[in-house]
Amino acid sequence: MSTSRTRAVRAGINTDPGHGAVIAPVHVSAAYRREDPAQPGVYDYARTGQPGRAELGKALAALEGTAGAVITSSGMAAIDILLNLLPNSARIVCAHDCYGGTRRIFDARSAQRGFDLVYADCSDLAALEAALTADTALLFLETPSNPRLRLTDLEEACRLARQAGALVAVDNTILSPALQRPAAYGANFVINSLTKIINGHSDMVGGVICAAAPAHVEELGWWANAAGAVGGAFDAFLALRGLRTLPIRARTQSDSALQVAETLSRHPGILRVDYPGLKDHPGHAIAARQQDGFGPLISLELDGGTEAARRFVRSLELFTLAQSLGGVESLCSIPATMTHAAMTPQARAEAGIADGLVRLSVGLESPRDLCADLDQAIARI
Ligand SMILES: Cc1ncc(COP(=O)(O)O)c(C=O)c1O
Repeated sequence: MSTSRTRAVRAGINTDPGHGAVIAPVHVSAAYRREDPAQPGVYDYARTGQPGRAELGKALAALEGTAGAVITSSGMAAIDILLNLLPNSARIVCAHDCYGGTRRIFDARSAQRGFDLVYADCSDLAALEAALTADTALLFLETPSNPRLRLTDLEEACRLARQAGALVAVDNTILSPALQRPAAYGANFVINSLTKIINGHSDMVGGVICAAAPAHVEELGWWANAAGAVGGAFDAFLALRGLRTLPIRARTQSDSALQVAETLSRHPGILRVDYPGLKDHPGHAIAARQQDGFGPLISLELDGGTEAARRFVRSLELFTLAQSLGGVESLCSIPATMTHAAMTPQARAEAGIADGLVRLSVGLESPRDLCADLDQAIARI
């Protein structure tokens, strides 16, 4: 069995039967010719199936260790098609500090379909156990959470969910399968926004939902086709190309983020640094056990609150103020007015997202240059 690094590099290589191209061509055709009007070939219509998407799905399912994967038009589309598997009025327990867009779609679908939606602090296993009543259909986790980087013990959380008869879905976007494989701990579904570290170059939008059970893969594929929530041919090509360097990028970005977090945590102008790689982070032991690296995200609070945070992000030169994460270029954001603006102020307060919280996504620049940039920006507030 090859390692995941080898699998990532070799995904889709030598799969072109027509011309022997080492790198598979991008199939732009919307339709595929039939020999028999009553019997489609392997591919029939590009919404239903497409070679590049199929290769990408196969590679991601192998990396996540699931039965299959459905490639979607975005991470949000992957999360939304999952909700189609639940009956109206189903009870859902969701991490209270997940990505703001996840809360937005969960809130909207719950209002529409009568879901009994409960947000819980999933880093607190007692709170999670209390929330997982016997009628719970789905536990939706994000670990580390975004932006506070709280850790959920995946093995324990999956055990508690199984006890309650609930399915478990994990949003693995922040780490990707290069650094964490939730299905190994019992997750039924693993979601990744391909827009982030998997593609890694911030030049496409896409998503994937992997499922441990073949029946779930089929059902999710049915919904993706029926709703047309599938990814495009060029985006699948870009994501597969990004995937080849994912293990190397994820490892290097994690190493750099640790250096940056250590530097920040020694700075007198910084009140708090959240990074699971720091030994005093409350989830450090869990992260060290269940992850293969601590990931590219750091959050911090500065002495001086919101005003100081705004001056800080404007003073940074190597961290671009933009709302994404995981790319080769470093980014910074203020979640309260950017990625998590869709949450109510009360929901943000409950999730510990202060108005002055700053999130950093550490890219592939030299960590020494990044630390120097952070120093000069702190000096200017
Ligand atoms: C953790 C997480 N999950 C899901 C998404 C949604 O992904 P997309 O933007 O590809 O729809 C994001 C986007 O920022 C995210 O940060």
